[in-house]
Amino acid sequence: MSQSLIKNIGLLVTNDSSLGKTELGLIENAALLIEHGKVTWVGASESAPTAEKTIDAAGKAVIPGFVDSHNHLIFAKDRAQEFSARMKGESYTAGGIATTVAATRQASDDDLLANATRLVHEGLHSGTTTVEIKSGYGLTVKDEIRSLHIAKQLTEETTFLGAHVVPSEYKGKADEYVDLICEQMITQVKPYAKWIDVFCDKGAFTTDQARKILKAGVAAGLKPRLHANQLAQGDGIALGVELGAASVDHISHFNNGDIELLKKSKTVATFLPGAEFSTRSNYPDARRMMEAGITVAIASDCNPGSSYTTNMGFVIALAVRDMFFTPEQALWSATKGGALALERDDVGHLSVGARADFVILKESSYIHLAYRPGVNLVDEVWQHGKRI
Ligand code: NIG
Ligand code: FE
Repeated sequence: MSQSLIKNIGLLVTNDSSLGKTELGLIENAALLIEHGKVTWVGASESAPTAEKTIDAAGKAVIPGFVDSHNHLIFAKDRAQEFSARMKGESYTAGGIATTVAATRQASDDDLLANATRLVHEGLHSGTTTVEIKSGYGLTVKDEIRSLHIAKQLTEETTFLGAHVVPSEYKGKADEYVDLICEQMITQVKPYAKWIDVFCDKGAFTTDQARKILKAGVAAGLKPRLHANQLAQGDGIALGVELGAASVDHISHFNNGDIELLKKSKTVATFLPGAEFSTRSNYPDARRMMEAGITVAIASDCNPGSSYTTNMGFVIALAVRDMFFTPEQALWSATKGGALALERDDVGHLSVGARADFVILKESSYIHLAYRPGVNLVDEVWQHGKRI
């Protein structure tokens, strides 16, 4: 079926940016015409054109599909024991990544693909229609290539994160590992990666190492993004701005200087509330960023260590309840904000020309995403104009 009309939408969220940068572009009693995978008409239900097929949304809310711009899905095994220990008082460190690296290196390609596919489907059924996937649990030339080869089968938003941590075989020789990344990994993973990322933080890579790696990636044609200041205040945000990164992510620590730099840049500030939740850390003051006019995204950061969830509805609930986003700011950040963090203008909104990726909720408003936490509110998910 190439033409479908969704009518009787009680409340449609378009995120139409012509109405204002962070406006939801709400239309009550709306309809949406989908042709060949794209939105071709949006407006009042009573003036909708006829179509080959009509779907009655019965007054429910329709939102753009979530754009989950930060995930680590190529891994084996989980770390439930580590989470349990944390809930009994242990603290989170970058060191836990090594456990997953060891398991991932031992896993077969088929097992890694099956696990990542399971997680992408889990996210899709909870409303995520665009997903970014990073490597970073291989940390050898061979294992980073296969991680990205697998990721590329699941999304076009693939990120090379060979600089996740220094692997144990390079203990005390971090600069040699940085050279391996710059001289061998980047060129070999390039066919499978759009982005390059570095974990620039305490216990991971220094700002100078991160700069060297990101510059080598950019020289090879990859686009920069950054894990910055999750565990401690550092220069990660400044580095991201300096290099024109699409996004700086986590940013659990930041100062006034960071805000001033971001204000003058196009770099998106991506918050990952699931990581604070799951590592029992303090939530950063994202409202200061929003009040300064900085573009903010939220994402799930799905990974087996710091945030093992694919559910963007849950992430919205955390952003609203614990980070004081309004329901409107949280929804916008999980859709249009995520799209901007991935430099995508075809997703994260439902104006004419957008990819027809949307969610019909079981409720009459998007507010219920935070108001009814932990409940499956997804009635239907449509991706590329097709009901999944
Ligand atoms: O984004 N911060 C670095 N990387 C992941 C966690 C990885 C892990 O603990 O396995 C994150 O939170
Ligand atoms: Fe991450």
